[in-house]
Amino acid sequence: MTAAELGALAADIAREAGELARRRRAEGVALAATKSTVADIVTEADREVEQLIRERLRAERPADGFLGEETGAERGTSGYTWVVDPIDGTVNYAYGIPGYSVSIAVVEDEPEPERWESVAAAVCAPALGELFTAVRGEGAWHDGTRLAVTTETPAGALLGTGFGYDPSTHEGDIATVQRAMTIARDVRRMGSAAIDLSYLAAGRLDGFFERGLKPWDYAAGALLVQEAGGLVSRFDVNAPRPMLIAGGRSVHDRLCDLIAPSR
Ligand code: IPD
Repeated sequence: MTAAELGALAADIAREAGELARRRRAEGVALAATKSTVADIVTEADREVEQLIRERLRAERPADGFLGEETGAERGTSGYTWVVDPIDGTVNYAYGIPGYSVSIAVVEDEPEPERWESVAAAVCAPALGELFTAVRGEGAWHDGTRLAVTTETPAGALLGTGFGYDPSTHEGDIATVQRAMTIARDVRRMGSAAIDLSYLAAGRLDGFFERGLKPWDYAAGALLVQEAGGLVSRFDVNAPRPMLIAGGRSVHDRLCDLIAPSR
């Protein structure tokens, strides 16, 4: 399969998985478990949606690896790995806030964020009726429109961010927001990093930063931003909570100067 064909498959599966998530949400949400902290939840739908994605991929791409938020890693033999968050923004999902998404990326080489190369990506936000896609070297797209990050921010940057679920990290994250605010016109905390990065690619945000994201939270969104002409950098990659900073060149560089931990 070409990169474009892998992208079409990612989009197709993300759409189908998004529809399942939306349907299950309409039927009511069942909490399945808590994870790292009581605020870090997984619903029955997270598991069912990941299962659907895994089965579709197993049928279409049996030799590929898989790295999913809920079911973990399985190495493949083809050199490709699918990096999947079945519901990014699970807390929004549980509260009935429409900002949740299915995030699917296919990457090449080692299934390690520092070593892989992203090939194609899809982020589907079913309750918002939106699908964002990207293919390496061929751009990022939404509804037939090619995406481009913003380059001018005369009134200051509209920044997106997120916080970890562990209350002991909140103070540090808020201090980071305070430093970033020096270049901001305002800040948004929408609750799905995959949507934040899609919005950044679409020019609906000028910059984004968050500590402690997992590979499945940002794998698809990072390719969207890069294919829309933006930059994505990660710092402290071996620490428990690496920092991700993204934006058009100017906002990205200014955020790195203000908040990147190890520069
Ligand atoms: C979460 C979302 C949220 C971010 C958290 C993530 P999940 O993913 O992306 O925006 O702030 O750090 O864990 O847990 O809903 O898949």
